[in-house]
Order: sequence, then C-alpha cells, then structure tokens
Amino acid sequence: MDKILVLDFGGQYNMLIARRVRAMNVYAEIKPYNKITPEEIKAAGYKGVIFTGGPNSVYDEKSPHYSKEILNLGIPILGICYGHQLLSYLAGGEIVPAKGGSEYGSTKLVAQNCTLFKGVPENSVCYMSHTDYVSRLPEGFKIIAHTDNCPCAAMCNEKGKLYGVQFHPEVTHTEYGNQILKNFVLGICGCDRNWVMSDFITQTTERYKKELAGKKVLLALSGGVDSSVAAVLLHKAIGKNLYCVFVDHGLLRQGEGDYVENTIGRNLGVNIIRVNAKDRFLKRLSGITEPEEKRHIIGEEFIRVFESEARKLGKIDVLAQGTIYPDVIESGKGDSAVIKSHHNVGGLPDIMNFESIAEPLRDLFKDEVREVGIQLGIPKDLVFRQPFPGPGLGIRVIGEITEEKLKLLKEADAIFRSEIDKLRFSKRPNQYFAVITDTKSVGVMGDARTYGYTVVLRAVNTDDFMTAAWSRLSYELLEAASSRITNEIKGITRVVYDITSKPPATVEWE
Ligand code: XMP
Repeated sequence: MDKILVLDFGGQYNMLIARRVRAMNVYAEIKPYNKITPEEIKAAGYKGVIFTGGPNSVYDEKSPHYSKEILNLGIPILGICYGHQLLSYLAGGEIVPAKGGSEYGSTKLVAQNCTLFKGVPENSVCYMSHTDYVSRLPEGFKIIAHTDNCPCAAMCNEKGKLYGVQFHPEVTHTEYGNQILKNFVLGICGCDRNWVMSDFITQTTERYKKELAGKKVLLALSGGVDSSVAAVLLHKAIGKNLYCVFVDHGLLRQGEGDYVENTIGRNLGVNIIRVNAKDRFLKRLSGITEPEEKRHIIGEEFIRVFESEARKLGKIDVLAQGTIYPDVIESGKGDSAVIKSHHNVGGLPDIMNFESIAEPLRDLFKDEVREVGIQLGIPKDLVFRQPFPGPGLGIRVIGEITEEKLKLLKEADAIFRSEIDKLRFSKRPNQYFAVITDTKSVGVMGDARTYGYTVVLRAVNTDDFMTAAWSRLSYELLEAASSRITNEIKGITRVVYDITSKPPATVEWE
C-alpha cells in the first residue's frame, strides 16, 4: 500500500495533514522528526514526505532539525510553514524574520503555473501563520508563489521533487489547499488511492482470523464508538471467541444499557456479558462528594468488576482494546516527546496475565472508525453519538450521588437530548447533557408550593474538546426542554442554562 510520511516538527495541524491525505484514500502516518532516520524512511518505502509546521525559528538553538540526507533519497518532499523554512535551510537557503512582522490569517496568494499548483488559479486565498520567511532560495529552487508581505510563499525544485509552502494547505481557510495536497500526493508522489475502509475491514478481519485463531479474547465494551466498532470488527474475525464484558455501573444514560446490549449484542450477534453493578457502585459512592474521589472510586470499582467477571471466564489469552490513532501518536514537540498511550481500561494489562493486546483500530482516526462502524452495519445513532465520560453520570450529579438524584438526572437528560435530537444532525451541538445540582429551590405548581432540585442544561460546540463555546441554542428549544422537565418530572423545580465557555469552565461540571 502506498503511504505518505508526515514528519512532525511540533506544529498544531499535524493530525489534520494526515487526515487530509487519508481523505484522498492514501495512507498517511505521523512520526516525530527525532524518531525516524532517513535510512528508515527509505526502507519503509514511503512515496512522499511532508514536513509539518512547528513553533520554532530554524536558527533557534533548540529548534528541531533534520539530516540533510533526506534531500538525497529521491523521495518527494513537501515542506509546510516551518517545514518549508527547514527544507530551504537544509538545501542551503536563508531565512530571516519578516520586516513587516508576523503574517497571520487569511492572505491573498499569487501563484504561478507549476506541478504543485495545477488547477490553482493565479489569485486565491491562503492561511498564513509565520514570522520568518525564506529570504534567499537554495540553489536549484525557484519561487512559485508570493503574497504582499512574503516574497517566497512557495518554492520548488521540480527536478529534485522538493516543494515548500509558507502557508497551511491543510486548513480549510486555504481555498485550494486540498487541491495542492492532492497535486503533491497523487501527482508528484504518484500514490495509488488504495486506503479504503472496506479493504481495511477485509484485511483486518483476515489478519485476526489467523492471529487469534483458537484464542480467547476479552474486550471491555463501554458502548462508546471505539469499543463498539472494535467489538463488531473482532467479532467478524473470531465470532464467539470474543467475550465483551459490559459493565453497567448504573451511571449510564437512560435506557443506554439495554440499547448497547440490543444493538451490539442481539442485533449484531456480538458475545456480550452484561454486568449490572449499579448497587455495588452506589454503595461505594455513598457519602462521597469530592469529584476526584468519585472519579477514582468509579475507575477502581470498574476494574474490580471487570476483573472478577473476566476471572469467571477462565484463562484469557488476549485483551482487546478500542485504542485509536490519536491515542498513540507520539508528539514531535521538542526532545521531551512523550508517548500518549491510552488504555480504555487503565491498568488492566498489569493486573491480569494476558499473552498480548489486540488493538484493531490503532491506525485509524475517529472519522475512519466511524466509517468502519457504518460499513459493519452499526446503526448511525451509535456511530455518531456524542462523547460520554467514563465515570458517566457520576460526574454530573453534583454532591453525593443518591438514587433519587440519579433518577431525576436521567429523566431530565433524556428530555433535553430528545429536544436537541429534533435538530438536523449538523445543527446539533457537539456535546449536550443535563447536570443535577445539590441546590434545591422553591417552586409553585397549581396552588401548591414545591421544593425540588435545580437542573443545569449544558451544550457546547467544539472541534477538539480542549476549548469549547457554549451553544447558542434557540429560546424555543430551551423553553421546550425547560417546561417539559419541570412538568414531566416531579422533584425538579428549576432549570438553568450554562453559558460558560471552556476556558474558563470545563465541559463537565465535575
Ligand atoms: P472537560 O470537562 O475536561 O471535558 O472539559 C472534555 C471532554 O472530556 C470528557 N471527559 C471525560 N471523559 N473520562 C472520560 O472518558 C473522564 O473522566 C472525563 N472527564 C471529562 C467530557 O465529557 C468532554 O467530552
């Protein structure tokens, strides 16, 4: 399979570059600049390399550099932003800080006719974010685009198949960004478009049929997208040898336990062992009000329940996990690169004696996981469901978690979600839910005084959940949710809407 290497120099859009390449059905992987040598790049058979952006200036002592050897491999290179400057530097060019200061945001680009800009008009808009620029071209290179403030907005050495763009083709603000990336990946590198999810499913299934033949495999199913897709995919490969333990801690949303059991288990035939452990969890959480303590207890109890269930199954050979690509990408930010290793069930492999771990989705981005899910026949509402935290409603019940508050919260949350779900999918916030506070207030119903809980509605729009804006829901929708909650649920007297963004708040209340 043809593949592109995204060589990471610590920029903020690196995952986006790989996703854009994959969206054209070409496999792309990200590696930190200090974890792969030119020899290894050659040996791995990459058909092209993209140098990413980065926060540094090439002359900074600490800035990430790379061996000049890469220029002699005969593999096409596209440098983006810092990558463009680094390419120029490695090839013998000069870089200086721009006289007019930084160029930032949407900028008019004037492009010339060349292989990289095939189909790109002379005038278009690109997205710039830089302070330095290439002031003297390396030998053998020519300028192929400029902006008002940047004389070398793009350069190339057609013979050496070396290209650099000062702007960011991977962000949507660059009008012809996708076209430029396509010209590089499909045209210049000559990649075949053979990264398709149906092939991924067939190949992965075949691989696991062999690798896991006769083995007993255990997976912790949460009902989230990743573990569900991993379960259905592995089920396709090994059928009943896959045991999915689904711990229902009683902190799931209304009807969720049955929904997961029916959709993944009954309808798709996956072998699910559901453990109804609500009483056990609530008992341990009784009297606990501190958020971190709640999280800790829920996490620990989850492992205990999972472990005791697994023991009942006898010897387990392999632990399967729904790890996805963003969980395993190493960061290229400086020398202190850390591996973000994510385990859906933290700590389990240490506790139990497995031969190995199977992570069928570890090469996929979230949107690819979703596509695999759809192709496997998992219903759209599960595949596109909003994120739900591991500790569940436990961190949406403020103060002590009681049966009463939990029941009220589940009902209110179901109403709010059903009102939002009336919106077209593209109009829905990225995450929306209810929170029950520990505050009671007075209300009036008919002629009688009521005294009940205050519920908060929370809805946010976000790309990455690192920052989030509160959703501007319509007054009509908020009104419908509020009046239904107070009318249909006895025990809730007041509904408020959270208009705090992240930062300074977080998405969850606890
Ligand atoms: P915060 O509250 O940190 O949430 O702004 C950002 C995103 O992460 C989810 N979240 C969690 N997910 N375990 C999880 O699996 C947790 O303990 C947890 N805390 C927050 C949250 O729902 C949001 O999508």
